[in-house]
Amino acid sequence: MLKFVSNSERETEEAAKKIAAKLAAGDVIAYIGGLGAGKTAFTRGLAKGLGCDENVTSPTFAIVNRYEGKIPLNHFDMYRIDGFDSLYSIGFFDYLDECSVCAIELSENITEYLPENTIFIEISRVDDNVREITVTGDDRFVDDIGD
Ligand SMILES: Nc1ncnc2c1ncn2[C@@H]1O[C@H](COP(=O)(O)OP(=O)(O)OP(=O)(O)O)[C@@H](O)[C@H]1O
Ligand SMILES: [Mg+2]
Repeated sequence: MLKFVSNSERETEEAAKKIAAKLAAGDVIAYIGGLGAGKTAFTRGLAKGLGCDENVTSPTFAIVNRYEGKIPLNHFDMYRIDGFDSLYSIGFFDYLDECSVCAIELSENITEYLPENTIFIEISRVDDNVREITVTGDDRFVDDIGD
């Protein structure tokens, strides 16, 4: 488990960029965190770290935005997804099978369909500009103190 505090949107992006450096094609990131927590901001950092140059925006209306890079990034918002049929119809399982990283907002809506090796990133709002970020589910991301 890796836990840290971010004091600005920029710090969140920088942290995500470092995490991206340890990601590989096939990795799935599921966000846990309420409205405005910073999930899209985190994904912006991931995109930079994966070598995707395009500007990252919220996929709420598109359901999925794809960014080409050294490792492609598929950024999902599962706001309107409510079960297997809708998930299947957006091609979710095909995205999982390709050589890309998938980052999923509102992953709470599809918990039962997430792969076993999913990396969970929980972002909690502490204060206006302060977020506590917790990464679980993968040994690559551990605190120096080893908890
Ligand atoms: N430490 C921080 N890390 C990330 N964002 C922060 C931080 N402090 C303040 N913010 C602000 O919080 C907002 C985060 O917005 P963002 O769209 O990334 O959240 P989200 O979790 O994707 O929201 P939504 O649920 O609406 O998709 C931005 O306005 C950003 O400037
Ligand atoms: Mg968002």
